[in-house]
Amino acid sequence: MCGIIGYIGKANAVDIILSGLKKLEYRGYDSAGIAVIVDRKVHIRRSVGKLCNLYLNFRERPISANIGIGHTRWATHGKPSEENAHPHTDYTKSIVIVHNGIIENYAKLRDELQNNGHEFKSETDTEVVAHLIKEHYKNNLLYAVQKTLIKIEGSYAFGIICKEEPDKIICARQDAPLIIGVGKDENFIASDVAALLPHTRDMIFLENGDIAEVTVDKIIVKDVKNNMRSVKIKSVECDAVQSEKSGYKHFMLKEIFEQPSTIENTLNGRIYPNEGRVFIEEVKIKEEYIKKDISNICVVACGTAYYAGLVSKILFEEFAKIPTEVDIASEFRYREPILNEKTLVIVISQSGETADTLAALRLAKNKGCQTLAICNVIESSISRESVHVIYTCCGPEIGVASTKTFTGQLTALYILALDWAFKRGKLTKESLKIYLKELEGIPLKIRLFLEDVKPIKIVAKMLAHKKIFLYLGRYLNYPIALEGALKLKEISYIHAEGYAAGEMKHGPIALIDASVPVVVVAVAGRVYKKIISNIEEARARGGVIIAVASDSNEEIKNKSDYVIYVPKTSEFISPIMTIIPLQLLAYYISVFLGCDVDQPRNLAKSVTVE
Ligand code: M6R
Repeated sequence: MCGIIGYIGKANAVDIILSGLKKLEYRGYDSAGIAVIVDRKVHIRRSVGKLCNLYLNFRERPISANIGIGHTRWATHGKPSEENAHPHTDYTKSIVIVHNGIIENYAKLRDELQNNGHEFKSETDTEVVAHLIKEHYKNNLLYAVQKTLIKIEGSYAFGIICKEEPDKIICARQDAPLIIGVGKDENFIASDVAALLPHTRDMIFLENGDIAEVTVDKIIVKDVKNNMRSVKIKSVECDAVQSEKSGYKHFMLKEIFEQPSTIENTLNGRIYPNEGRVFIEEVKIKEEYIKKDISNICVVACGTAYYAGLVSKILFEEFAKIPTEVDIASEFRYREPILNEKTLVIVISQSGETADTLAALRLAKNKGCQTLAICNVIESSISRESVHVIYTCCGPEIGVASTKTFTGQLTALYILALDWAFKRGKLTKESLKIYLKELEGIPLKIRLFLEDVKPIKIVAKMLAHKKIFLYLGRYLNYPIALEGALKLKEISYIHAEGYAAGEMKHGPIALIDASVPVVVVAVAGRVYKKIISNIEEARARGGVIIAVASDSNEEIKNKSDYVIYVPKTSEFISPIMTIIPLQLLAYYISVFLGCDVDQPRNLAKSVTVE
């Protein structure tokens, strides 16, 4: 978590760093800080809370500098406070550092340094690194950092400046993203592409073990042993405007409304419904492997991406007839999954930086598995390390709650499952055409649905004060119930749980009384009758029923307190449709409660620590 940025050049570093931090705020937002060097003097400003506090600080006491580093924090070691906010320094205030990651052996190092007389000001793991660099510093910052990195264990992206060498930024990466933006007579470092895009498209994506010395006109990349590392400058295509709110009140709302286009983008050039053909250019998995060699699929992810994985289990098993299990990355990596070269491990991640998912991918590679990532962020760690990648072409997702990338992930998984079902002879060309047409038609249906969201606002207003919500679904819509509940809890802080509707009577039904809203996904299909029985059971206990039902279903009106109608789809494709009202319900409840929709408490967009 946490975002780091640095600038060296002729412009005012403070302005560039502040606007970069704004773009990185999604990575953490409990405190922020900037350090600059002016006339060989280090100036550090830090503030607790949102970035606007730091902005205010610089507005009240402006400062101009040509070199600086900045940080936006998601606390790991030490509570959010000014002392714990980055940048941190050594006791002489000569070495200044910003860090994203976790130093695992910091306690031992801190004890050793304290025994040598170092005094610490914060509770962070990062401060130890500043002190250690100072210990090794003999008028050569790069050398001191190299020596320090040998001693530390853990994950990091560092930006480091030093008052004695105000002409350079040293940065280093190990298991946390770090990019150098290459400019003309200026250079940048940052945790992600979005922070650099307003300034340059030319970027160097540092690899694990890289240590770079960045000056105004030169970038040298070495390793801890001072060997030169080869680097490539890549030109990044990306639209900076996509990172703006474009008139919407929140990024989340904008991202919900973008879904018709983002699904189209993910489908574009990959499906040919009239020919009954799928073509995913990037995936070079041999047809032979999919037809014969593959024994099973293991889908691994966290949070929302995990729920997309749960939908895919049904698709891979039912359509392609490939045994599939789905696991939470933080569990998968610490059990002993049975994996071999016949197992295809699919990791799903919006950010491509989620620490547990990345570790799961590495574990799978070590075991010789075939690997495929479904990822949104181009050049992220997961997309670079996975052998095959399918990008969900959703553009930057800024709201912490995933929305458009969830439907993007589902879309990619649907295409894969259909393609492989056909290749394995489990689906006829005619059926493939029908399913692909369904997929092609879904963006229009979502567009139509989004034209009138009033019914959802009404339900949200009526129920925003409730303390517990239950979400029920079955079959393909069971993961949608889980995802709907996650959306509500993360942005409104209301306790919400998703259940497989058939499980209710095995315990959770005890929760239901007249104060509990029960959101039920009850669209047409093979489990419709079953879910109606589950609605009756919940109603009999006094639950307030909110049904998400297929258009023109009159029957459900008599069985529910509120009905949210969605356009009719086949049951197969329904999860891509039914999640939309649940995203909106969570959104409007959060707005009615006055919560911080885009930056909910305690969370960060990409979880780069385990
Ligand atoms: O970037 P990733 O898709 O790997 O992130 C996984 C989860 O952290 C993420 O889906 C999280 O659950 C979202 N905040 C949910 O809205």
